Amino acid sequence: MSRIVYVNGEFLPEEDAKISVFDRGFLFADGVYEVSTIIDGKLVDNGAHLARLERSMKELEMDQPCTMEKLEAAQHELLRRNDVKEGGLYLQVTRGAADRDFAFPKEAKSSLVMFTQAKAVIDNPAAKTGISVVTMPDIRWQRRDIKAIGLLPASMAKQAALKAGADDAWMIEDGYVTEGSSNNAHIVTKDGVLVTRALSNKILHGITRKAVLALAEETGITVEERSFTPEEVGEASEAFITSASMFVMPVTKFDGEPVGDGQPGPVSTRLRALYVAFARDSLS
Ligand code: PDD
Repeated sequence: MSRIVYVNGEFLPEEDAKISVFDRGFLFADGVYEVSTIIDGKLVDNGAHLARLERSMKELEMDQPCTMEKLEAAQHELLRRNDVKEGGLYLQVTRGAADRDFAFPKEAKSSLVMFTQAKAVIDNPAAKTGISVVTMPDIRWQRRDIKAIGLLPASMAKQAALKAGADDAWMIEDGYVTEGSSNNAHIVTKDGVLVTRALSNKILHGITRKAVLALAEETGITVEERSFTPEEVGEASEAFITSASMFVMPVTKFDGEPVGDGQPGPVSTRLRALYVAFARDSLS
């Protein structure tokens, strides 16, 4: 049975779901997106994802395709029609279809597309071993705080990491780690301090990052929001990534060397468990 996809007010079998070749998402990557995780057929921390979506659209002067209430109702209808228990709900808003012109069109109506993907999130086997990452230059644009659909640099970084025999890339700019190809990057120092890059236009303001930092502080872990170098990762006792789809995922190998003792450490393991509990409490 094929998936049911949402396209501009309609719920269609995926093979019938179509977008114009003049859509500015297709021609200019003129669009924004969100990925909300699905657990027990419901959405994790979805209000925070919708708030970030609103901000991304505003930053790009993009009209909302519909009210946020309607959008949320469509998310729930999509979940109902697809009967996905665990995975992700992807949604994308583009500026819509217009004759090709660099200037933002006056007439175009923004378009909204959504689909679900089934995937094991909580029992991801990688959480038991951790993942390996390698460093890459960060060649992305300067508005990484906007969750825009122009993901080719991130896709290239991921592909280069796989080619190098690793699972993912951590991107480096001016000697400091910015973030992972599709996740936020964190380390735990030998003194037990959680170090993570401060929010700016240099990184995406991760929804999972925010929740995990609050959980860390609640349990008495000191959090330092500052840039850190690849050398500090080499000296750290733990490293981990956060994202909607990975939750908290230990990084046990960095540029070919073990991080700490090369096993998922106590802080990342604890934070993952706390985040799973938080995620369950946030379902809507
Ligand atoms: N990626 N940084 C980047 C560059 C990202 O693409 C993502 C999310 C994150 C983590 O943000 P959040 O915790 O809100 O998911 C950080 C999503 C999952 C994706 O593109 O599939």
